Amino acid sequence: MLFSRTPAVRTREQLAIMRRAGRVVAEMHAEIRAAIAPGTTTAELDRIGRDVLACRGATSNFLGYGHPPYPAVICASPNSMVVHGVPSDRVVLREGDIVSIDCGAIVDGWHGDAAFTAPVGEVSDEARRLIEVTEASLDAAIAAMVEGNRLGDLGHAVESTVRAAGLHVVAGYTGHAIGQAMHEAPNVPNVGTAGSGAKLRVGNVLAIEPMVAIGTDDTDVLDDDWSVVTADGTWAAHAEHTIAVTPDGPEVLTRP
Ligand code: MF3
Ligand code: CO
Repeated sequence: MLFSRTPAVRTREQLAIMRRAGRVVAEMHAEIRAAIAPGTTTAELDRIGRDVLACRGATSNFLGYGHPPYPAVICASPNSMVVHGVPSDRVVLREGDIVSIDCGAIVDGWHGDAAFTAPVGEVSDEARRLIEVTEASLDAAIAAMVEGNRLGDLGHAVESTVRAAGLHVVAGYTGHAIGQAMHEAPNVPNVGTAGSGAKLRVGNVLAIEPMVAIGTDDTDVLDDDWSVVTADGTWAAHAEHTIAVTPDGPEVLTRP
């Protein structure tokens, strides 16, 4: 399916299951968000994610993913870490930090995937604005998840929002179609030309996930082969939802 240029069309029955997976991810978000505070470790946040999955009879699409196999059910990426931060007892959140939390769940074989960035206590105006712009860029792309629009409209929505704010879209990482696998074709870039690319159809389900940095679009991967950091050490934020195109417009499956 990796060569496919158009996202799959899901039936109402399939969407109903994806909605359940999305709700589990939303619950992971709510529980983890409530636990984010100075002194919390990212390993504690991962344990909360595991508890929600177990409670809901869902499984993790992150645990064991890729090479080397991903060792946790969430990604927790503080400050200059963009995505794929591996939770650890040694990573203690401090007042003034920001942390990006990415969560996924599988319910009856169907996947949900979503991320948010939260302040830890009081943060700088610059950090708060970084988070706000990242969320606004995701909201702009969600608003474009309408039948007849094109994939390029989504990337254009993200890119234009981020650029207008004087921030940088992280290069080299994209969103993706999602269904019975977490990552399905096609990719959903965070940059694009309005009116270009595949046409969106009712039943398409995409994970849109802008990654935004203050100073650069360039990244490095740390020695753990997972953690992605900005090349210049400036802070980054990540926001993601799993969204369906419906006859009534976009439906965000990972929002409660
Ligand atoms: N949610 C991430 C994405 O959208 C994947 C996390 S990487 C994993 O691509 F290894 F944790 F699964
Ligand atoms: Co994703």
